[in-house]
Amino acid sequence: MRSLNTPSTARSFRAARQQRSVAAAAAGKHIVITGANTGIGFEAALDLAKKDYDVTLACRNDDKAAAAAQRIKAAVPGAKVSTLRLDLSDLDSVR
Ligand SMILES: NC(=O)c1ccc[n+]([C@@H]2O[C@H](COP(=O)([O-])OP(=O)(O)OC[C@H]3O[C@@H](n4cnc5c(N)ncnc54)[C@H](OP(=O)(O)O)[C@@H]3O)[C@@H](O)[C@H]2O)c1
Repeated sequence: MRSLNTPSTARSFRAARQQRSVAAAAAGKHIVITGANTGIGFEAALDLAKKDYDVTLACRNDDKAAAAAQRIKAAVPGAKVSTLRLDLSDLDSVR
């Protein structure tokens, strides 16, 4: 009979506990990410969507934002993703 007290069992319990705490942290949380259509912003948005956060992609180009939202929805079925036009070089965009 295999012991339950192996390092890999302990690792699985730790991973499951960590997943539960990430899911609990994400519950009801909404994150707005600037520059989210590409690069670091996109990767951050994708990762947070995978962790079940509501994400808003704040981008200056609507088409790029919509394409990024589609890529996230394709990678994460059921992801809660929205877009918002935001050009940080335009003060009318910043309120
Ligand atoms: N990549 C790295 O390894 C690295 C390392 C250290 C630091 N950084 C810094 O981290 C930041 C992001 O890097 P990245 O590689 O993710 O850059 P990136 O791929 O060039 O992405 C920049 C993002 O910012 C958006 N953006 C630029 N000007 C904007 C404005 N006026 N209003 C709203 N959005 C605007 C871009 O939108 P558009 O697509 O419409 O242009 C794009 O979505 C940069 O400042 C970079 O210098 C990057």
